[in-house]
Amino acid sequence: MHLVTALERWQQLARTLSYHTYRYHVLDEPEISDAAYDSLMNELRALEEHFPQLCTAESPSQRVGAAPRSEFIKVEHPVPMTSLANAFDEAEVRKWHERVGRLAGEARLEWVVEPKIDGLAVAITYENGQMALGATRGNGIVGEDITPNLRTVRDIPLRLPVEGSNGSAPRPRYGSWPSFPEHPEVAARLEVRGEVYMKIQDFERLNQQQAKVGEKVFANPRNAAAGSLRLLDSGITAQRPLSFFAYGLGYIEGVKLTSQWEMLGYLGRLGFPLNPHIRFFTDFEDVIAYAKEWMTLRETLAYEVDGIVLKVNDFAIQKRLGVSGREPRWALAWKFPASEAVTQLLDIWVNVGRTGVLNPNAVLEPVEIGGVIVSHATLHNEDYITERELRVGDHVVVKRSGDVIPKVLHSLPEMRPAGTVPWQMPATCPTCGEPVVRAEGEANHYCTNAACPAQLVRQVEHFVSRGAMNIDGLGTRLTERFVNEGLIHDVADLYFLQAEQLAELEKLGRKSAANLVASIDASRARGMARLLTALGIRYVGSVVAEILAVAYGSLDELMLATREELESIHGIGPISAQSLVEWFSREPNRELIKKLRQAGVEFASHRTAPLAEGDAPLAGLTFVITGILPTMSRDEARVLIEQHGGKVTGTVSRQTDYLLAGEKAGSKLTKAQQLDVKVLSEEGLREMAYREDL
Ligand code: IVH
Repeated sequence: MHLVTALERWQQLARTLSYHTYRYHVLDEPEISDAAYDSLMNELRALEEHFPQLCTAESPSQRVGAAPRSEFIKVEHPVPMTSLANAFDEAEVRKWHERVGRLAGEARLEWVVEPKIDGLAVAITYENGQMALGATRGNGIVGEDITPNLRTVRDIPLRLPVEGSNGSAPRPRYGSWPSFPEHPEVAARLEVRGEVYMKIQDFERLNQQQAKVGEKVFANPRNAAAGSLRLLDSGITAQRPLSFFAYGLGYIEGVKLTSQWEMLGYLGRLGFPLNPHIRFFTDFEDVIAYAKEWMTLRETLAYEVDGIVLKVNDFAIQKRLGVSGREPRWALAWKFPASEAVTQLLDIWVNVGRTGVLNPNAVLEPVEIGGVIVSHATLHNEDYITERELRVGDHVVVKRSGDVIPKVLHSLPEMRPAGTVPWQMPATCPTCGEPVVRAEGEANHYCTNAACPAQLVRQVEHFVSRGAMNIDGLGTRLTERFVNEGLIHDVADLYFLQAEQLAELEKLGRKSAANLVASIDASRARGMARLLTALGIRYVGSVVAEILAVAYGSLDELMLATREELESIHGIGPISAQSLVEWFSREPNRELIKKLRQAGVEFASHRTAPLAEGDAPLAGLTFVITGILPTMSRDEARVLIEQHGGKVTGTVSRQTDYLLAGEKAGSKLTKAQQLDVKVLSEEGLREMAYREDL
């Protein structure tokens, strides 16, 4: 075949394939069978094999992924990707509405309401109709180039306009998009923003597959989407069932659009998938009414929605309202209440933590909450249980919000079955049988046996975890066997394990044993910060460990540091300093360090400079902290903020950007509300600080 004939046939095939991809994925209205589609694709591939020059980046064949990369390249967003201000109830939403009304002046306001899709924000640049770049949001200023990965997402057009998309853009459930000419002009350059997500069913299927082959299972669809998108091997991304909804523009050159609603219509016409539940309103009361419908609507959808987004329609008014901090004033996320359900408390079992703390856990009659089956919940400590008068057999209200471990809120004593008794912490350790004590002034009970096997198992789990030494192939079961069979007495013993010796263990096998030993071996070189994190010293998490690694350069230097010296380091508080000095002064710990050294574990730091300015997601922001945060102390929160470039002050003023508030926040919260200072939860803070890690 001649190249010219081949080219003609290729163009025909490419157009036909991209049309059918669009029918199938975006419109959900396929016209041809999968088999017919495959045969067209096979012909296209065969042609490209013969004439490699035909195989361009926008060929439908490229949906299968490209050669793996060794790292992600950072890209700066030409227009920052802001986040959204949150509201949690109607009163807050009305307050926002009033404020917008005040700031917008005389203008008549129109509204667009969109679901807040729980996935991952991306920005996709098109040049002359061709997809040129796809990036993650990152910290909003700098993201990562994930172009090959995004090319594999079937919903995302590789070329604009998509063949066959004219006039058949997915329609909103009510009303219609503004009309565009038959062939809308394709902007010379535009950056489309939207959410990559995974449908709940796809997520479940993926997890089943993953579990079957012994691979990582994901906690929720959002994590699955994020994990799949950020793979260096886009060939694997191509096999992950990812979907996309467009909801915005970073910029557009050459085409004039004047409102959100018009823009959505334009994007739909070009071939982008739009959520069919997006609606347009002129009366804010209708916005509120629609929002209320969402409380039930969300349960019926095939994907997870964590709230709805209210947007001022008119771009000129949006511009007038502007941005405050990192959040535009013209948009608001109305978050759904955390989901709750009633179920039965079947048992309370106590597990022993890394430091010997006894953690009571609720074993629940499995119940579905927000699409996830919940069968366990944390009960924190004995006080938590007695304060709530929880008894085994009770019906309890369980709450799940986002990724956090579900909580038992309270019991329903009116439904209490006969014969239940109040719960008590066992007097002896459930693992080793040694006595349990409750430390003076503390809520926790401890197992008094330093050699308790359960503690060692937890220590090893922490030591090998991803944020620490990152050792693959050593799960809890295997760790328990190593401990019970006396193969290890502390974490350093891991480094003395021999493949031959492990291969003799029942059911482990030669190959896994060799892999495990290789993985342990590789972990020797992780460096000071990881090692320090892995040691599990109280109040020394990964953030503090990073700071210390930069400050001291090696574990040996750190061991010589005094409390005063440690405290003088920016980001290290008195509590961490105290804890470190105490830990290093204890003889068994010094022995452990010695053993790790003998094992050839690297004590030097890889990192010699703190995070660069531009990488700091909280740069330029001022925080005040108040109340009891769910998982960190205020000190830890301060370190987290400072490590990510933010500043913490003691009093709320007009200069404050955010009040980080936990439970029992008092006068500072009132003051913040008076001054219209944004209030942030711990979860919100983590989101802001760690978004860059996605
Ligand atoms: S608009 C104007 N619209 O929510 C501010 N965001 O917390 C830009 N999201 O990072 C965002 N659905 O990942 C917007 N319909 C929607 C959205 C949406 C989901 C996510 C997005 C963003 C986060 C903001």
